[in-house]
Formats: sequence, structure tokens, C-alpha cells
Amino acid sequence: ASVARGRGEGGREGGGWESDGGAGRRGAEATVEIAAAGAGEDAATGETRRVIKRRVPKRYRHPQLDRAIRRERTVAEARLTSEARRAGVPTPLVYDVDVPAATLTLQHVGDRDLAADLDERWTTAVGRHLARLHGAGIVHGDPTTRNVRIERRGERDARATLIDFGLAYHTSHVEDHAMDLHVFEGSVRATATEPNPLIEAFEAGYAEAGDGDVLDRLRTVEGRGRYR
Ligand SMILES: Nc1ncnc2c1ncn2[C@@H]1O[C@H](COP(=O)(O)OP(=O)(O)O)[C@@H](O)[C@H]1O
Ligand SMILES: [Mg+2]
Repeated sequence: ASVARGRGEGGREGGGWESDGGAGRRGAEATVEIAAAGAGEDAATGETRRVIKRRVPKRYRHPQLDRAIRRERTVAEARLTSEARRAGVPTPLVYDVDVPAATLTLQHVGDRDLAADLDERWTTAVGRHLARLHGAGIVHGDPTTRNVRIERRGERDARATLIDFGLAYHTSHVEDHAMDLHVFEGSVRATATEPNPLIEAFEAGYAEAGDGDVLDRLRTVEGRGRYR
């Protein structure tokens, strides 16, 4: 059995930061389906649940070009998801890449997203994860509260996993790294009623593991925003 969780052409609707469709943000281009654990797998823990992410054709693109783009992005997302994981950033395992069908099969992670459980502990963890990701020369590209999955294992023990590497790319430019922080903070501000402690915790997490120049640049990015 599977539950369709995809968003169609009109994706990213439903309010908040994700629907703002601002400069440089693409519309949803994938459908996501959660496949339940099959026979012989542990349905109780959800340990073997899979997420099937399929890039859907876009009619406004030439069919051949459209196919090429979807394949390319599927491969890039698989690579960057795994590369981040090898760099020590929690991301889903990539179980399969079906290039002709532009489809990824990923490990299902977490039991909720960060938007549903905004807590300083998790934002600190996201800061550390982004710092480590940037240290490996990768930016996430869309680090919103919906692209962080939270898994609570016990009272204290929890894990924050980064998902959705569809807009990720390689870069070591401070400005690109700062943009990741800016996007995350914008997303927290759009979600939380009292965002400041969450953002301070996020920046403290980033400072622990990351480059201070990126935080300095973030202040410049914010300064520019104010005069737009
Ligand atoms: N590996 C995963 N584990 C659990 N949920 C996931 C996973 N991948 C995607 N999802 C769910 O599906 C949603 C959409 O997937 P995502 O990769 O973020 O694609 P989109 O580009 O549409 O934002 C996520 O916000 C999350 O709720
Ligand atoms: Mg997403």
C-alpha cells in the first residue's frame, strides 16, 4: 500500500515561506509517494519504509529537453544526498536511482518535519549539519523547515535529517553558503511565533562547526534585504 503525498503543478501552496515563489525558486517538480514496509519488513518501526520521488514532465518544455533535465536533476539529487551523508550530514540512504523514469527511491526518515516541531535543539543540529555540508563544499539550496525531518527516539535522543537535495550544488563561495543560512532563517521566521531563540540556537550550531565568515556574510545579506 502506498500513500500519495505528492504535490502537483500548483505545489508549494498552502501558505508561508514555501509558497512565496520568490526569485530563483522553482515550483514543485516532483511527486512523492511513501511506500509502506512490505512482507518480511518491519512495519511497526517503519524502518524499511521508502519514499519514491518522481520528477514529473513539464509540458512547457520541449519533450526531449524535459526528459534530459529530469534525468540530470534526479542523478544530481541522488549524488548530492549520498555525498552529504558521506561527509557526516544525516541524509536518507539512496536505495535506487531509476534514471529513465527520473525516479529516486529513498529511505524514509523522521516522523515529522521541523515545521511541526520547532525546537532549539533541532535548530542547533541543523546549524551543525549545514556547517558540515558547507565544509564539504555543498550548499543545500532549499533548507526550509519542511526539508528537515525529525525523528524522536527517546525523551532526549533525537535526530534531525536533511532531505530534498533537488536544488543542492557544489560551491565554496561564502555568499552561497550564507544564502543557505538566510533561507533557513526566513523559513523559521515564517513558521515560529518566537523565532529569535531558534535562530540564535541555529547560528550557535553553525558557529560550532562552521566558518565565521559565512555568519558575517549573512549579516551583509540581511542588510541588503532591508534596502530592497
Ligand atoms: N526521505 C524522506 N523521508 C520522509 N519524508 C520525506 C522524504 N523525502 C520526502 N519526504 C516528504 O515529502 C515531501 C516532499 O519531498 P521533497 O523531497 O521535499 O520534494 P519537493 O521538491 O516537492 O519539496 C517532504 O517535505 C517530506 O514531507
Ligand atoms: Mg521539499
